[in-house]
This record gives sequence, structure tokens and C-alpha cells, in this order.
Amino acid sequence: MMLETLLVHADADDGESAIVPPIYQSVPFSAASAEEFAKVSTTPRAERFYRRYGNPTQARLEAVMATIEGAEAGLATASGMGAVSTTVLSLVAGGDHVVAQRSMYGGTLSFLQEVAPRLGIEVTLVDQTDTRAFERAVRPNTKLIMLETPSNPLLQITDVEAVTGIARDHGILTFADNTVATPVNHRPLDQGVDLVMHSITKSVSGHSDVLAGIVLGRSDLIDRIWQTHTLIGAVISPHDAWLALRGLRTLAMRVEHQNRTALALARFLDDHPAVAKVNYPGLAGHPQHDVAKRQMRGHGGLLSFELRGGYDTAERFIAALGVPARSPSLGGVRSLVVQPAAMWEHELTEEQLSEAGVPPALVRFAVGLEAETDLIADLERGLTAASSAR
Ligand SMILES: Cc1ncc(COP(=O)(O)O)c(C=O)c1O
Repeated sequence: MMLETLLVHADADDGESAIVPPIYQSVPFSAASAEEFAKVSTTPRAERFYRRYGNPTQARLEAVMATIEGAEAGLATASGMGAVSTTVLSLVAGGDHVVAQRSMYGGTLSFLQEVAPRLGIEVTLVDQTDTRAFERAVRPNTKLIMLETPSNPLLQITDVEAVTGIARDHGILTFADNTVATPVNHRPLDQGVDLVMHSITKSVSGHSDVLAGIVLGRSDLIDRIWQTHTLIGAVISPHDAWLALRGLRTLAMRVEHQNRTALALARFLDDHPAVAKVNYPGLAGHPQHDVAKRQMRGHGGLLSFELRGGYDTAERFIAALGVPARSPSLGGVRSLVVQPAAMWEHELTEEQLSEAGVPPALVRFAVGLEAETDLIADLERGLTAASSAR
């Protein structure tokens, strides 16, 4: 089946007449006998024992996501950060070393730079546009390489096949955040990555009303992560799992629409004199356009651009916009816009921001499902306001 058909049919109810599957909101499940209780309580990933161990609605979401990412298994979590932290804490320990990208989602960077070192985990950040930098950073105690492509908010591309080749040569696991690309545009597991994660909060659920995450990959790795997960407890709620399943049915058409609109917006901005630089891997001028074309089917709904001017120019631009909301998410039906330097000034130090390559006049634009013409007219209005006050 094609992805569009699969997404609509993948969670169809098994053997019941309901078109939409039920939500299993119950925390505990009952057993008919002491023998059954003993069996279910010791079954790894039991769906009908106690919610921190698993849940039938959660299992349905994990199965659909595993199908579309090409994974053996998945483990849904309470948030994208729940998937990042639980996975890292399951796979590495004090004395181990992690290599990660310098340009990555700010929360992941903060976890790696603030929480991991407290536990004795060493982290090296590298420029992911230089594939050999991953190899140079490898040490005898390196256990994990973390990737995010395209990266948030700079839309830099990581050559996934090249990096997984290096990791395999050194016996190191790879873990890729596929939130920005989505499985419609990119399937990193097909290119040798061991584990993929999503902030389901974004495109997968798609309506800005769910906070959830997931990690997917080989069953033995997911089982290992699940052991730690039941103790950390960043567990997805069944209602969020159900809403994520609903969002998934329209994932392909939403992402394809956003691919088209984002490319049109990127081209418009690229030609505009008030814009210094546009970061969008679908543009022929993107420094890694060829890698993006090789490993992605479409280039996604997220772009960022640097205005000519400073922090205040970006602020004036956003204040003049009428269509997108000023809001810190992406992948939803409504377009959202932020100035990363303003959003993260309390989360990341100035040094971390500059290390992550985030200039003060950078604007991140997460394309929704509005008409392209309305969005372009709005950008024009914002750019006029931003440059006229300079
Ligand atoms: C690329 C990426 N990964 C992970 C996360 C964290 O996800 P959550 O907010 O669901 O914890 C985000 C959130 O913005 C993100 O953009």
C-alpha cells in the first residue's frame, strides 16, 4: 500500500465494527487468575497490566509509527524530550562519551550539555555539515552518535548514510531526531540509523493539541529502552496517543502541502532585498541541497531566514505579521513564527546560542495549511514594516 492509504487504514479496528478505535483510558487492567496475573506482570511491554508498562491505545500508535518509519518496534513517550532523555539514559552511563551535532533542537542541546555531564557522560558537539568531524570526535568510550536532519532552527543537513557508515565501523549506535523531516520526507532507518525519534507534538499529531514523543528501531534496543522507561515514567497518556493516531491519518497530505508552500515561501524570501539569508534545504542554493535531494523525498514545512538588521528588526517583522501566531512549535495546521534568539535567551546562554550558530535577526517559520498567497502577502507586509523602521 502507498503511504497515504496505509495511514488511513493502519489503525482500523481489529475485528470490531467501530471505524475509529477506542481509547483505553484505564490505568490498571484486571487478571482472571493468580496465574494470569503473574504472567502479565512479568511480560515485557505488557499492554494490559498497568499503564506505566504499556497500554492498548499506545501500542496502536507505536505499531502505526513503526510501519511508516520501517522500524521493528516503537516506544511512545510523554513528550519528544521524554524520548530523547529516556533513550540517552538507557543507552549510555557515566564514563561513556556521546557525539552530537552543534545545530540541534535547544532542549536536546541543554540535556546533553547540562544533565548528561552531571551523570559523568561526556559530550562532544560537532559541525554536522562536515561528515568527517563525527569521525574525528570518536573516542574509545563513544557509545552514541546523535543526529537531527534538517536541524532546528538552521535547517542544516546531515549526510545520514556517511555518518552511519562511520558509526558502524566503530561499533557505535546512532540515534536520529526525524521530527523536522517527518517519515513522509525521510526515513533514516533505511539509511542505517539504529534509532529514530519524533516529537509527536509536531507534524505527527499535527494540530498543536498533543504533547508526546516516540523512539523507534530494532526490537532489542526498544526493549532495553522500555526497561528504563518504566522507571523514569515519561509515559504517554492514552488520550494523547488517540489524538496522535487521528492526526496521523492526514500526515501525508499535510506534509506534502507544507513541502510545496515552504518551497514557495523560501523562494520568495530568497529574492527579497530585506532578507540576508534563507535556510531551506529545498533551495538549489542551500549548501547541502544535493545531500538533501539524495536522502529526502520533500524538504518539509520548516524554514528559517536572517533579516538584514539585528534583534529589533526581527522583532518588528514578527510584530507586523497577521497570519502566523508567535508560538514555539512546528508542524501544525496554523503557521507559527518565532525569533529563536528571543525564545531561547532564558534556556541557552549567549555563548551556547552563538555556538549553535543562531544569529539575533534569525526568524524561524513553521508553515501551516494556510493558502500560499495569504502567507506571501503577510511576509511582504512584515518585511516592509521591518525595513521601513530601520
Ligand atoms: C526537533 C525537535 N526535537 C525534539 C523536540 C522536543 O519535543 P517536545 O516538545 O515534544 O518534548 C522539539 C520541540 O520543539 C523539536 O523541535
